[in-house]
Amino acid sequence: MTIPTPHISATSKDQIAKTVLMPGDPLRAKFIADNFLENVEQFNETRGMLGYTGYYKGKRVSVMGSGMGIPSSMIYYNELFNFYDVDCIIRVGTAGSMQEDVKLHDIVIATSACSESSINDNLFGNIHFSSTPDFELLMKAYNKSIDLGYTTHCGQVHSSDQFYSEMEPKVFENLRKYGILCVEMESYGLFMAARKHGKKGLGIFTISDSLIENVADSAENRQKSYTNMMELALEVAED
Ligand code: HPA
Repeated sequence: MTIPTPHISATSKDQIAKTVLMPGDPLRAKFIADNFLENVEQFNETRGMLGYTGYYKGKRVSVMGSGMGIPSSMIYYNELFNFYDVDCIIRVGTAGSMQEDVKLHDIVIATSACSESSINDNLFGNIHFSSTPDFELLMKAYNKSIDLGYTTHCGQVHSSDQFYSEMEPKVFENLRKYGILCVEMESYGLFMAARKHGKKGLGIFTISDSLIENVADSAENRQKSYTNMMELALEVAED
């Protein structure tokens, strides 16, 4: 397959930077481009999955929506890595807390992701492969997050196939007991796509809700925590 791909309309590889920040929501990609990037050029609107390239503090970066869930997002991860020579994708997303000490607006950086997804079935025989991000990028993000003064947790996340899950209470309690920090829906696929293509993946989240506490949030606080996460990802991006 050549470019443009079925889902990305950029006609030249140069239109997309080496690092792409990817929120699930394409309008959040537009928000990042509008508020943080200079000299912005749009490279995609196929299926409304807006993608832009611009400069952050002189560094060339792209931002693009991924859609929700592993099947949607993996289409974009695979096409960006495989056909546009992208080196690094940083997922910037929201996640639901599964631990008491992981509070609303805290930053979570995934050290690995587990999932009920079947994308690895038949790939590794009876071996349960661990889906992990790039270690250097992870360290860089952790150190930068601490420098910026953000409350930061590093650990395993659950990339769920279902937002409206009917998970057995016992399973939920085991995930908590074994230290899963939060639930989101894409990182397991991102880390697998990055490994498949020999590229780098990283997942950074802001906690938007809790699966164990009834927590309310103001729109202003929510926006601030998105902004913190986006700045962290932009600082970590490599051009
Ligand atoms: N479940 C799955 N994904 C999420 C959640 C959730 O509760 N919150 C934010 N992303």
